[in-house]
Amino acid sequence: MGKEHLIFIGAPGSGKGTQASRLMMEQNYIHLSTGDLLRKEITKESILGKQVKAILESGSLVNDDLMIELIKSSCDLNKNACIFDGYPRNLEQAKTLDKEILQGKKYKAVFFEVKPDDLVERLVNRRVCSGCQRTYNLVSLPPMQEGICDTCQGRLYQREDDKEEVIRKRLDIFNEKIAGMLAFYKEKGLLERLDAFLGVNEVSAKLAEILT
Ligand code: AP5
Repeated sequence: MGKEHLIFIGAPGSGKGTQASRLMMEQNYIHLSTGDLLRKEITKESILGKQVKAILESGSLVNDDLMIELIKSSCDLNKNACIFDGYPRNLEQAKTLDKEILQGKKYKAVFFEVKPDDLVERLVNRRVCSGCQRTYNLVSLPPMQEGICDTCQGRLYQREDDKEEVIRKRLDIFNEKIAGMLAFYKEKGLLERLDAFLGVNEVSAKLAEILT
């Protein structure tokens, strides 16, 4: 397998999920979004789903032990290169991922750099497909038909945590944790910075440069 595993780090709304989905469709990466995995558990009303529902809706982080179990049971690094989207979210998770999951395998951490001011605007306008999880934006990436997914005709919905007060809390938590993670990957020489405030296609092009 030629491709390296990728870790996408960035504020809520910085475009991690959008770019990871593209790489999954175009280059066969496995897209491992911890947010999507948790939301699936909530929809299934599993024991884990019931435990984490209120946490996600409030914008807080799920505890590290639950997350490590979820990620270990969801990823198979031998099938294809994986994109970790939403994990790690703090220094402890970064260390666990490096030591217990990636275990010496080749990888890069890509930091999606954005100006925070417009993230709230991006997120309140996000809509997600209830069928295939494809992400749209009412302003920058609208679906062809209002409320309907272009890909699978599923119904589009707004995430519970995409309300302004919850978004602000998620951004505060991100800002508290990011420095430690960046220092960790920088020290290892694995950190790539991506200007994620360009348009979606321009960000994809910059990302392609990093991956070559
Ligand atoms: P998660 O689902 O991972 O949310 P997040 O990290 O806050 O990230 P988002 O999905 O909000 O943003 P994104 O960067 O993927 O942006 P997107 O591409 O959609 O996590 C949700 C919750 O789960 C957490 O709050 C926590 O409770 C829990 N959780 C998850 N992982 C955890 C962990 N490891 N530990 C503990 N708890 C965990 O883009 C956003 C919008 O902008 C879209 O509408 C998109 O169309 C638009 N857009 C994207 N790119 C551009 C662009 N370049 N220009 C204009 N618009 C754009």
